[in-house]
Amino acid sequence: MPASGMVIGLGSGSTAKYATLRIGERLRSGDLQDIVAIPSSEETASLATSLGIPLVTFRDCQRIDITIDGADEVNPRLDLIKGGGGALLREKVLAQASLKNIIIVDPSKISSQLGKHWPVPVEVLRFAVDLERIFLADLGATVKLREAEGEPYLTDEGNYILDANFGLIHDPERLALSLSQRAGIVEHGLFIGLATEVVVAGENGPEVLRRS
Ligand code: A5P
Repeated sequence: MPASGMVIGLGSGSTAKYATLRIGERLRSGDLQDIVAIPSSEETASLATSLGIPLVTFRDCQRIDITIDGADEVNPRLDLIKGGGGALLREKVLAQASLKNIIIVDPSKISSQLGKHWPVPVEVLRFAVDLERIFLADLGATVKLREAEGEPYLTDEGNYILDANFGLIHDPERLALSLSQRAGIVEHGLFIGLATEVVVAGENGPEVLRRS
């Protein structure tokens, strides 16, 4: 739980939005004091600003106490697919800078194997998009350039996203490594070993999953 005096990482997406709204409420009520936050997208930054949450950058603060974010798919080892909302790059930067990463999901996100429900979002340089599309297809994926209103979707960092459907991913760590080694790939949505705990918000209350 975010507490007074902390540096808080704010995730992106519809679930993380509730966490940001709650932080805003707790600040207003005085329950939370002396916090600063780092947002993982321009959208979250606007929301946080509208709620009066003080924002800082990595120039001011290089360590985050706790980040609260969502995910698209979670496997039993608490590895994640993220990036359905397009903010995977900054989200991963925050996750790597955070002492604790709390991921909140609904039960539909829990999966026996990554790739069962969701493609892997891969953020690529516009310069390299055609090459990386072939690279991902050669790795076995069905690849789609993400679009918004008929145009290629642009991330906050000005890159494109290729949604790469690998089907069931038998070795997420190995795939993550192959994607990370590719120069034209800026980042990918496989979050390996980054979640501290996953809170599954079900009908009968929250269930907390911890890495074993
Ligand atoms: C944003 O790019 C994503 O990584 C989100 O955290 C993820 O897509 C989950 O989003 P929802 O909470 O909207 O399902």
